This record gives sequence, structure tokens and C-alpha cells, in this order.
Amino acid sequence: MCGIVGYIGNNLSKKILLNGLTNLEYRGYDSAGISILSNGNIHTLKTKGRVKDLIDLSNLDKVDGYCGIAHTRWATHGEPSDINSHPHNNQNNTFSVVHNGIIENYSDLKNFLVSKNYKFISQTDTEVIPNLIDYYYKEGNDFLHSVYKACKHLKGSYAICVISSIFPDKIIVARKSSPLVLGKGINENFIGSDIPALLEYTKSFYFINDNEFAEVLKNNIIFYDENLSKIEKKCKEINIDFSQINKNGYDDYMLKEIYEQPKSIFRTLNNLNFENLNITKEYLKSLKKIYIIACGTAMHAGLVSKTLIENLCKINVEVDLASEFRYRNPIIDSNTLAIFISQSGETADTIAALELAKVSNAQTIAVTNVPESSITRIADKVLYTSAGPEIAVASTKAYTSQISLMSYFSLYLAKLLNSINDDLLKELETDLNNIPNKIKELFDNLDSQIKDIAKKIYLEKDIYYIGRGLDYYVALEGALKLKEISYIHAEAYASGELKHGTIALIENNTTVISIITNPLLVEKSISNIQEVISRGAKTIIITNQSLNKNEFNHIIKIPEINSYLSPILSIIPLQLLAYHIAKLKKLDVDKPRNLAKSVTVE
Ligand code: M6R
Repeated sequence: MCGIVGYIGNNLSKKILLNGLTNLEYRGYDSAGISILSNGNIHTLKTKGRVKDLIDLSNLDKVDGYCGIAHTRWATHGEPSDINSHPHNNQNNTFSVVHNGIIENYSDLKNFLVSKNYKFISQTDTEVIPNLIDYYYKEGNDFLHSVYKACKHLKGSYAICVISSIFPDKIIVARKSSPLVLGKGINENFIGSDIPALLEYTKSFYFINDNEFAEVLKNNIIFYDENLSKIEKKCKEINIDFSQINKNGYDDYMLKEIYEQPKSIFRTLNNLNFENLNITKEYLKSLKKIYIIACGTAMHAGLVSKTLIENLCKINVEVDLASEFRYRNPIIDSNTLAIFISQSGETADTIAALELAKVSNAQTIAVTNVPESSITRIADKVLYTSAGPEIAVASTKAYTSQISLMSYFSLYLAKLLNSINDDLLKELETDLNNIPNKIKELFDNLDSQIKDIAKKIYLEKDIYYIGRGLDYYVALEGALKLKEISYIHAEAYASGELKHGTIALIENNTTVISIITNPLLVEKSISNIQEVISRGAKTIIITNQSLNKNEFNHIIKIPEINSYLSPILSIIPLQLLAYHIAKLKKLDVDKPRNLAKSVTVE
């Protein structure tokens, strides 16, 4: 949610800031803006729309300088508009701020500032920050202390970068519950919401924790703790290949990421080491419950993981949405293992749920795709999916990597517990290692089949997804993919549940997509499909079973695999279907409306 960039150094900042914003646009894209210091003044340009709309502003040409900040917005307070876009400046234009997060007490602060004759022009929560800084500056504080004192009054979450025309040689940054990284250069330093935004310029990064501050100068970065005492930080070298965040010839990141899945799963499986978790058989036996907590697609990966751990390890697993878990007084104690799945490692609800689990004395494991993300610094242990940067808002390769990781983890636990027989263990291990090849096999001819189907259904208003067991969880994920990028209403139902209400919505020509991969449930699933066919539904079947082609409108065959692992294959046609439908509707696949890649606010 919102991307921020900052630069100070020997180079002109505008190009660097705009490049950084372009890399961060997946975090929010309803407006963009830039503030640059030049000739002793702050020059702010901002607009509703995308970064390219900012670049197109005619007066952007006239502004450049060696210190600046920039922002791409996902609106929380105040509609997307030129005025509500960041940066926000104080009324004298001496301080300029970009902010990611939500200031929950902005209304009280605004009232206070209005009583001191401050004037506000936007509807945002952020505008209180530069004015509060100005207020403390006028009380006689220097730049750092003015920002520090202002932050002490902010409730909620923030990552901020502040520049000042009075102090042109530094940028002050502060962070609380919103991501921020600092990139080190030679005679220049960078600030960004995440590492990939800055990889073009540096591979050396500092990470600041909640409630910490930094003074970023051209040749130095000085860090401070929550009491403004100086602290030392070590710079870390990050080895992400910058080419991984290019489209590499694909039209969209999402398509590239769909096709990367053989590689991302291979990397994930080959980079895992569970020994560091120090899990013993005795510990597993002592567990009352495993919780898996996540949001969106990551929660769907959690549902698949539940089935595997419960069936293979015979441990009770509860899956919860992070936004629900954190407010429902969950029963959790030292006999609970709590696993948090998050591609970005920055999702606010997931992090808050993790913090709750920690204070309840549960052992915590984070499963994330982003090294050095916030979640990695809070959880007791971390497991990484090595999917590589996922840029498209709709998650694809991260999801299949999460399931691959969790499948492998379930087998590791089952081995420790001796809870499955050797034949099944061997079969699952072989099949899991074979998944990258099976996906490549699935890709043969898949695109043309899916395009054909997409052409027939892309104008529909409602599409239903059904399945039983693991296939139901894949249905949930398939429906989410369609909703988020094609804006078609999609609902997923457990096949057997349809007749308890939702079947009333099935009428002539309604499209029902069914996933059937468990040989034990084929007949039951077919019966449910017959129930919708009798009511006029058109049916699309994703299956690894041999079904009678004449009974259904389309069958998409996926390679055979042990049914515990089938979600990793069966989701792929559904990802591609969502993609091609969105393309036919001429939608922006990578940046769907109203969404952002990392949801760093509640
Ligand atoms: O970064 P996270 O895995 O924590 O993100 C969780 C969800 O916001 C995310 O999976 C979201 O549902 C995706 N847009 C789905 O494609």
C-alpha cells in the first residue's frame, strides 16, 4: 500500500525517483507525486493517476535537484485526486512528506493544528505530519527533533520520508509498522519501500525497525532508536538479480510469473532446510494445535497445507484469516505452533496476528518470499519460498511455491513422527520433486486451449467454481484470481454444498468450472456437476481423471500426480484463464483496480 522513494547524492534525483516509483507502482497506483529541492525551495508536482501521468506533466521538465522524495498512492483517507496525492507539504512549503500507512488520530491532530492557525487543503491523514513537524520546528527544535516530536504524537502506522528547504542536506526517515529500507551508495543514498525498487542502483541495504529514525545524508546515514540515541546498523548485501524484476519479453508480469512456476518451485524445494527449525518428535507430540494464518491467496495456500498436515501427520490444524484471528481471542499457548504465510512479509494483518501469537507464547514460523521483510524480523523462525520477486498484484508463482514448501514441510513432519508408510512417503517425495517437469508438461498446448475457452466466457457476469476437498481450496483460489483481475463476479463452493442454497443461482448458460483430481471423489463430484448441467449450466472441467468428454463443454487435462499435490497443477489453468479473460476485456492485468500488492494497512 503506497510506495515511497527518496534520494540524496551527487546525481540529479528526478530520474532515480521516477524509476523507483515505477518499480513500486504495484504497491498503489491511484496517484503519484514528487518533491525535489532546488534553488532553496521545495518543488512539488503531483497528480491523480499513474506514474506515467506524473511523467507526462508538462512542468516536470523544469524541476530537478540532488535531493528528493516521491510517492505512489493507494488511497485510504480521501479520494484519489491531485490535492490528496503525496507529497504533502506544510502551509509554508518548508517541509515535504511522503507517507505509507494510516494516521489513526489525524482528526485530533488536525483540530489541534487548526487551533494553532494551520490551514489544511487535502482530505488526507498525512497532511497533519508536515504541519506538526513545522509546529515543533517553530518551537525551536532542529529538523531531526521536529520529526521525532511529531512522530511521538502519531498513532497508527507510518513509514515517512521528510525533506526540508531549511535543511537541504538531509532526508529524515521514520518507521512504525510500515516497510522502509535504506540503500547505500557512493556519495549517494537511497530510500525505498522495498529492495527491488532500488536494486538498479545498489545492492547494499540497511533495515530500520519500528520506532527507529534515520538521518540520511549524501555521504552518511545516522540511525537513532526510539529515544533518539544513536545506534549502529550493519549494511547487508542483497543478492537479487535485477533482471528478475523485468518482464523478460512477456506482455505482463502476471504471465511471466505464471510461466516461471517450474523454476520457482524448483528453487523453493532446493533451497529449503528444516533442520534449523529444531523441531523434534517430542515437540510435535506435545502440540495441541497448529495454526496457519494468512490473507488472500496465502490463506488459500494455508488451507491446502492444513489437509496435508492433518492427513499425513495427524496433527490438528486450524487455518484463519489474519484479519479475523487478531480480533477473535484465539485459543493459543505454548503448545501451539503458529505458521504465518505471506508472500510480501509486509501484510499488516498477518504481522499483527504474528505479534499476537508471540505474546501468547506460541512458537512462530514465517513462510515468506521476501528476505529481510518485516515478518522475518518478528517470527521465531523463517522459511523462504524462493519464487523470486513477484510483481503482478495477482499472486501466482508465490502461491504454488507456498504450497510446494508446505507440502515438503508436511512430509518432513510426517517423517519425524513416522506417521505415514514408506511407500506413500516415497511416492510423495518423488512426485513433489517431479512437479516442475509436470508443470512444463501441462504448459504444452495449454495456452491455446485456455484462450479458446476465455473467448467464449469473457463477457459473463458470474462464474462459479466448485470442487471437493483440496479441489475446493483450488476453486477458492481460482475464483479469487478471476475476481481480482477480470472484475467478473466469481464464487467458489464446495461441490456438495451447492445444493444447500447457491444452486438457486444456476440458470441456462451459467458457467460452472469444476476441479476434479481426487480419484476417491470423482463419482461424487460428477453427480454434483450433473446437478448443475440439469439446470442449464455450461461446464468446464479441470481434471487428471479420464472423464467422458461428451458430458461436458470443455475438459482441461492436467498431468497425473498424487492427489495431495494436485493443487499445484490444477490452479495453473485457472491462473491462465483469469489472465486471458482479463486481457480480452482489455484490463490492466498487473495493476487491477482498487488493489495493491502489499496490504500494509489494516
Ligand atoms: O503478501 P501476502 O502474501 O501477505 O499477501 C496476502 C494477500 O494480500 C494476497 O495474497 C492477495 O490476496 C493477492 N492479491 C491475491 O492474488
